[in-house]
Amino acid sequence: MSFLDATVLQSARFVKELGRGAFGSVDLVEVATPDGSVYAARKTLLVKGGAKRQLTDALTRELRGTFSACRASPFATSLLGISIGAAGHCMYTEFAEGGSLRAHLKRGFVRLPSASEVPQLQMPVSELQKLAFSLLHALSAMNDVGYAHLDIKPDNVLVAGSKYLLADFGNAAELGPNPKVHGLRGSSIYIAPEQWEGQAYGLNADCFSLGVLLAQCAVWPHSPAALVQLIQGQRALPGCVPEELRDFIAALMHTDAATRPSPKEAMKLPFLAGIRMEDCL
Ligand SMILES: Nc1ncnc2c1ncn2[C@@H]1O[C@H](COP(=O)(O)OP(=O)(O)OP(=O)(O)O)[C@@H](O)[C@H]1O
Ligand SMILES: [Mg+2]
Repeated sequence: MSFLDATVLQSARFVKELGRGAFGSVDLVEVATPDGSVYAARKTLLVKGGAKRQLTDALTRELRGTFSACRASPFATSLLGISIGAAGHCMYTEFAEGGSLRAHLKRGFVRLPSASEVPQLQMPVSELQKLAFSLLHALSAMNDVGYAHLDIKPDNVLVAGSKYLLADFGNAAELGPNPKVHGLRGSSIYIAPEQWEGQAYGLNADCFSLGVLLAQCAVWPHSPAALVQLIQGQRALPGCVPEELRDFIAALMHTDAATRPSPKEAMKLPFLAGIRMEDCL
């Protein structure tokens, strides 16, 4: 879909609310274009107190982050247009009809037999490979222009048809090639240890978050306590996790940032061997 201009976006018709977060709301809208109507997700950015400058800064930050990813990866939500108005600044992205990964985890990918107490994978390995490949592809595209996402979590991954899309670039930052001190960004358990410690961090801070997300999807979709124990080294992944996935998560979650792979390096680890972009579309 091509970029929609402001006059076309003025006709956007509210359909339903898709989400609500710290910076505003996300609605499904229908937009009438010369080629017919299309659905889009409209994120309205609101800043407490509504200072115009802060609003413009927030929109610029989110736009830069989104563009850094979607210009070179099919696994990031595509930008469809923007509008600036008194009621808030809006950003329009492709609508992911499958909703967020968080909602999928809530519903469950596979059903546990009710009597079974044996832990089993909650998401098939092939799906975990696809998820990891897609997110790393989008992160690599961001990294190519010096950007990190800094808020990888299930709420910010969307499902569109058979694709996983990286979304919500409100925390993205231009870190450049070398680690730098940049303030704490992200969401509690997914944040890399060097960020908590106030140290300089680099583009591979996102890999730590991805490792936590994969452990969550694989075995503990509803147990943040188990994830915290894993992060603190007090718990191991259960035996149902295949060796290559276990090694992959361990590499991503390496507490020493200097040893942790970058998104590009992570794509070359054995867990993703043989996975091609076409398989993830
Ligand atoms: N393009 C989209 N298609 C479908 N659903 C979407 C789309 N964009 C957002 N959503 C839904 O809205 C929710 C919130 O969106 P998003 O993460 O972009 O905003 P946010 O969390 O409010 O932002 P922030 O983290 O900056 O406060 C998502 O978790 C998802 O459920
Ligand atoms: Mg979000």
